[in-house]
Amino acid sequence: MSAAQLPERSSFHPWTDPNAQPFITFQNVTKRYGDVVAVDNLTLNIYEREFFALLGPSGCGKTTLMRMLAGFEELSEGSLHLAGEDLAGVAPYRRPVNMMFQSYALFPHMNVEANIAFGLKQEGMAKADIAERVGRMLALVKMEDFARRKPDQLSGGQKQRVALARSLAKQPKVLLLDEPLGALDRKLREETQFELMELQEQLGITFLIVTHDQEEAMTVADRIAVMERGKIVQVAPPMEIYERPTNRYVADFLGDIDLIETTVAKHAKGFVQLETAGGVSLKVASEDVPSVGSTAWFAIRPEKFAITKAKPKSADNLLSGEVWDIAYMGGMTIYKVKLDDGDFAKAMVMNRDLTSGSRITWEDRVWLSCSRDAARLLTS
Ligand SMILES: Nc1ncnc2c1ncn2[C@@H]1O[C@H](COP(=O)(O)OP(=O)(O)OP(=O)(O)O)[C@@H](O)[C@H]1O
Ligand SMILES: [Mg+2]
Repeated sequence: MSAAQLPERSSFHPWTDPNAQPFITFQNVTKRYGDVVAVDNLTLNIYEREFFALLGPSGCGKTTLMRMLAGFEELSEGSLHLAGEDLAGVAPYRRPVNMMFQSYALFPHMNVEANIAFGLKQEGMAKADIAERVGRMLALVKMEDFARRKPDQLSGGQKQRVALARSLAKQPKVLLLDEPLGALDRKLREETQFELMELQEQLGITFLIVTHDQEEAMTVADRIAVMERGKIVQVAPPMEIYERPTNRYVADFLGDIDLIETTVAKHAKGFVQLETAGGVSLKVASEDVPSVGSTAWFAIRPEKFAITKAKPKSADNLLSGEVWDIAYMGGMTIYKVKLDDGDFAKAMVMNRDLTSGSRITWEDRVWLSCSRDAARLLTS
């Protein structure tokens, strides 16, 4: 039931449509706490029904951004619009936004049903309507059989699902999820990711999620924003962020990458030629024209390197070295290679058959090779 692969999702990219109206707009938003600039002149558009992920190191301003949208923090500067409405001065409970907190707290003395119903009761919804809505929410998170249990009679994952149902019960237009799956083990986490995507498809809500887990962001999100010190460094769909990071920070933050420092030697049609400190010539497909003699990085994902004991007959890029370390990961093996000019690079090999991982071993002399299209030129 891979919700990620639903066909309509692949045609969902309103951010490429110049006529599409953003649903949420942060315009030059700054948030200061005394001397601390938590969010720094940030501009961002999020579209209706988008599943949007915020990624970045601790303290970069992710939670602050969400709290401003939920109405728990005022902006120091800039403006924030939702569905065309300026949110300045709009109280949190009047915003069609719900936030599931980093540390979600269920009411321990209430059973699952009552926890989910809580916000609806407060709103003064009629009893029959509450019962109907709670029933639907329980079904949505597959917790019908647990309605009468108290939170301490549930597993971590079940609690998390109840918290999710509770934040969905009031049918917000926007759901803010701050590390929603943090308490779950890997397996349950992956299952819940798919459930989240399915929910999002069913309900048509706009999701803004914060996660420390890059794979999670790549799995669930239509677009990812990578943040650094209160600013957005790059915002793009997962594949673009991974394959075409704009700088070393993004490249390094998302996934594993080999960054080889080089000097620009020359440009030709469609590619740039680089030279390592050890004098190895490398080619990268690029339309950029960085100045000759400037520093640039040859960036390549480890899975795009081929590793062989014999020297490949022809390859755009060839680096030789010695196997320094091997990490067997089950489905794949990662070779850490000490290149002849002292740098380290990693190559990842899928273990397709039982012998594939065993042919190359520690201290073997090896060649790393790749095409010019597999690598990326980074200048900052
Ligand atoms: N109420 C506050 N008073 C003072 N400083 C604050 C306050 N809230 C957040 N900050 C600071 O603002 C910055 C951004 O904090 P924020 O909570 O948004 O980070 P985050 O990206 O969510 O981090 P994490 O991944 O650790 O949750 C941090 O430097 C933090 O110390
Ligand atoms: Mg946070």
